[in-house]
Amino acid sequence: MNDNNHATIIPLLTKAYATELETVQNYLANSVWLDGLHAHVVTEALTEDITEELSHALRLARRLKQLGACPPGSLDLARDQTALQPAFKSTDIRHVVEGALAAERDAIATYQALIEACEGVDPVTQDLAVTILADEEEHRTLFEGFLKNLDINN
Ligand SMILES: [Fe+2]
Ligand SMILES: [Fe+2]
Repeated sequence: MNDNNHATIIPLLTKAYATELETVQNYLANSVWLDGLHAHVVTEALTEDITEELSHALRLARRLKQLGACPPGSLDLARDQTALQPAFKSTDIRHVVEGALAAERDAIATYQALIEACEGVDPVTQDLAVTILADEEEHRTLFEGFLKNLDINN
């Protein structure tokens, strides 16, 4: 891999890494904050995903290291998940499900960009991105299902 390829792939890996860690923070807060009759299914899903998103972050950090880049510390991590901040009202399940869906869709777009950037130049990073993309699509399907349910019941 030449320096030109590095220049595209490392920022995308870093962006994905930041997103995974921000998702962990917001899923954690929302999983604890939500209340209400139907909240349990959503909070359980969020709690399960925390572990999975953290494992994505770890794999991305390892890949950054393999490419000669230091995984950034907290002060250098971008933050932009406005839709996934904990709800003003702790019973606002829809807010959390819609926020999670936005986060999963954003992650999917980042991994698709990473897969494209790796095409023909970095099969190892591409393979990692494909593997994580499959997990994110699974998460998206789960939250889409929750949203359908909320649409029926409300
Ligand atoms: Fe993830
Ligand atoms: Fe995810």
